[in-house]
Amino acid sequence: MLTSLFFFFLFSSVTTAKTHRFVKTVSPSSLGLDQPQKLSHLHFFLHDVVAGTNQTAVRVAAAPATEKSPTMFGAVVMMDDPLTELPDAASAVVGRAQGIYASASTSELGFLMAMNFVFTEGKYNGSSLAVLGRNTVQSAVREMPVVGGSGLFRFARGYATAKTHYFGLLEAVVEYNVYVFHY
Ligand SMILES: *[C@@H]1O[C@H](CO)[C@@H](O)[C@H](O)[C@H]1NC(C)=O
Ligand SMILES: *[C@@H]1O[C@H](CO)[C@@H](O)[C@H](O)[C@H]1NC(C)=O
Repeated sequence: MLTSLFFFFLFSSVTTAKTHRFVKTVSPSSLGLDQPQKLSHLHFFLHDVVAGTNQTAVRVAAAPATEKSPTMFGAVVMMDDPLTELPDAASAVVGRAQGIYASASTSELGFLMAMNFVFTEGKYNGSSLAVLGRNTVQSAVREMPVVGGSGLFRFARGYATAKTHYFGLLEAVVEYNVYVFHY
């Protein structure tokens, strides 16, 4: 009885591919994906303000051992940082970096970055890029993968490099160069 049931399931899974009503194959052209991909280079400055009246990054969690850790291991910070065209915070705002950075290394200052760049300029207004990567903030240049996007950046893939432009008590200004393939 058990053996015949076993063979029944074995055969049914091999011979009849189960059809699912919630998923179907469509042609790439139905989404305009038969076009060649574009490669875009985005350049902007991120302002991470950790204190003061215009604070844009707040620590939301930490472990009991975080204060004793030289790398702040375990600290989790939520940010909504403005992105500007130039290093000056008063220059044109092109979007925001919204997400989390968390100290994920016990041996150096290394953050796990999980953030969305959300753009607000012109035709890019509302489009976003999702970044998930490692940010060793004391390195001259850090590279993080761009794992996806929305709006004009649907199907985006690429990478971002971050370079500290200014580091002060209240604020860090980070220069970003982002290269993404998208349609
Ligand atoms: C906070 O932002 C306001 C408005 O942009 C600005 O006038 C003010 O100088 C900023 N304060 C600080 C401490 O940067
Ligand atoms: C971006 O889109 C939002 C929502 O649609 C709108 O309120 C805002 O005015 C737009 N901003 C720009 C700069 O076009």
